[in-house]
Amino acid sequence: MSKQEIILCEEFEKALAEAINKCQHDKIFILTDDQTHLLCFPKLAELAILKDAIEITIGATDTNKNLKTLASVWQTLSDKGATRHSLLINLGGGMVTDLGGFAASSFKRGINYINIPTTLLSMVDASVGGKTGINFNGLKNEIGVFSTANSVLIETDFLRTLNDQNVFSGYAEMLKHGLISNTKHWAELINFDTNRIDYIKLKELISSSIQVKENIVEQDPLEHSIRKALNFGHTIGHAFESLSLAENRPILHGYAVAWGIVCELYLSHLKTGFPSDKMHETIRFIRDNYGTFTYNCKEYDRLYNFMLHDKKNTAGIVNFTLLKNIGKISIDQTTDKKTIFEALDFYRECMS
Ligand code: GLY
Repeated sequence: MSKQEIILCEEFEKALAEAINKCQHDKIFILTDDQTHLLCFPKLAELAILKDAIEITIGATDTNKNLKTLASVWQTLSDKGATRHSLLINLGGGMVTDLGGFAASSFKRGINYINIPTTLLSMVDASVGGKTGINFNGLKNEIGVFSTANSVLIETDFLRTLNDQNVFSGYAEMLKHGLISNTKHWAELINFDTNRIDYIKLKELISSSIQVKENIVEQDPLEHSIRKALNFGHTIGHAFESLSLAENRPILHGYAVAWGIVCELYLSHLKTGFPSDKMHETIRFIRDNYGTFTYNCKEYDRLYNFMLHDKKNTAGIVNFTLLKNIGKISIDQTTDKKTIFEALDFYRECMS
């Protein structure tokens, strides 16, 4: 998998022109969703380099990350004369960059594409690292390929289009990057004033966060080993997300990850000796900024079954990435059902 160029924009227009000029192209297409069409596309529409670009707009939110939407993107590319030498620019959150990346990677066996993530979650996670795809058969990201964008342009001005919940949702992945990297970065993150967001400081934190992910993806692009570090908090986090959907009380992905981190820090403490003080400091930050997800002990089996069905498992054993300390990663950890239930108990005690 080729390495992607990630550009933290100082001058967006110049950076975009350079990225476009690096990809030989006959036509440019821009994929947006209903929201980014309104809130972000105007910033691109005024640029001379994009005056002949063709916009393709799809429905926003994860419910549209499906085969029908993907087919509609292929159809429009085909109808509007896209060739193997055309370029697709994905302007949006993780749903647009995942689906658009897959559309580009499969159309005529692959055309060039550029990601312009507009959410914090997508800037620090989804648009970086080459995972593309769609949901299928009720399963998230079931169909897709690893395929890197030619360039990823990080324009933090787009963050001002987000509500607080979406900022916090992305911030949870940054917190995860802090925990899997080093104490300095972790401390900066949990001491950041989330009540009055300083966007200049946030941009610096985003830069460090992306470097953590890039460094890991570079070592293990196809997730055979160390890339599994990026799953920290996600095994139980995904179970919370699935439960919330099944019970018709959906939560944002990053919130589920933050709450998953609470449980997986506890498992890390129990099984690999993660220090109690750093665990409690992190949990305090999460409780103060994310509130809590409620469930009772009657739902434990259901949560456990969601964990068992995570596609990252092998042979029906729940697989965790745990931490011995900040930046000290232990991949492929397993634990029994009783201990997982203990972690769910721990969460309810310290988050209520
Ligand atoms: N979102 C986790 C990864 O890219 O591997």
